[in-house]
Amino acid sequence: MIAAPVQQADPATQPAVSGKPDSVPRHIAIIMDGNGRWAKARGLPRTEGHRHGTENLRQIIKACVEFGVEILTIYAFSTENWRRPPLEVRMLMTILERVIDNELEELRGNGVQIRHIGKPDQIAPVLLKKIKYACELTKNNRRLILNVAFNYGGRDEIVQAVQRIIEDKVPANAVTEQLLASYMYTGDLPDPDLIVRTSGELRVSNFLIWQGAYSELYVTPVFWPDFDKNELRKAIEEYNLRTRRFGKTDEQLDGES
Ligand code: IPE
Ligand code: IPE
Ligand code: MG
Repeated sequence: MIAAPVQQADPATQPAVSGKPDSVPRHIAIIMDGNGRWAKARGLPRTEGHRHGTENLRQIIKACVEFGVEILTIYAFSTENWRRPPLEVRMLMTILERVIDNELEELRGNGVQIRHIGKPDQIAPVLLKKIKYACELTKNNRRLILNVAFNYGGRDEIVQAVQRIIEDKVPANAVTEQLLASYMYTGDLPDPDLIVRTSGELRVSNFLIWQGAYSELYVTPVFWPDFDKNELRKAIEEYNLRTRRFGKTDEQLDGES
C-alpha cells in the first residue's frame, strides 16, 4: 500500500502566530526618518543614509515576524517627498526597485504579504509594474502584512476616498466614519496601535492621519538606520505601559477588566 503523502503546511501561507501575547501590538506603523542626518553625522552623502536605512528595514521586518506583529506599515516615500532634489528622488525610487528585485523572494518565503498604499500616479511604469508584481506574488501570505506607504499622503488618501464615495453615489446620510474608513487603503485592516517615528521629529508628516486618530505615538531620537530589533523591543515595551482610554476614564477601564 502506498502511504498518502503527508500534507505539509506551507509556512508562507500560515496565519499570524496564534497565542502571541496580547501585549504585542497587532499593527505597528513606522515613520522611517533620519537617514539624511545619520549620513551627515558620518560625513557621508545622504544616499548612504538611505542605503543603510534600507538594509535596516530587513531586520525590522524579520523582528516583526518573530515578535508576532500582524501588520507593519512603513512610510517609505511621501507625496511631499517629490519636493526633494531630483537626484535624491530618483535614488529613493531606485531603492524601492532594488528592494523588490533583491528581497522579494525572501519576503515571500517568510510569509510576508506586501501591499502598496499610496497613489500609483507619478510612479514610473517600470517600478509600478514591479510593485504590482510583488503584491500579486505575496497576496496569499498571512504571517505579516507589510503595507509599503510609497507616494503616500494621508490627506491625499482622504481626498481619494471622498472622490470614490461620490463616484459610488453614496447618499450623504450613509457617509459614516465606518464607511469612510472602508474607503481608505487600509480599509480591511485594524488601525495602527503604535506609530513609531525615528530621529526625534514631533510630527506625523501626513502619515495615516485618519487611521492614527487613536494610535499610541513613540518618538525616539535614534536615526532610522540605527533603529534595530532592540529599539523595536523598547518601543513595544513602552507601548505596553500605556493606557489606551479611547475617551473613557481609568475607572471605567478598571470596571471592564
Ligand atoms: C527618511 O530619512 C527617508 C525618507 C523620507 C524617504 P530622511 O531622508 O528624511 O532623513 P533626514 O530627515 O533628512 O535626516
Ligand atoms: C516623512 O519624513 C516621510 C518618510 C519617512 C517617508 P520626512 O523627512 O519627509 O518628513 P518631514 O519633511 O521632516 O516632515
Ligand atoms: Mg526626514
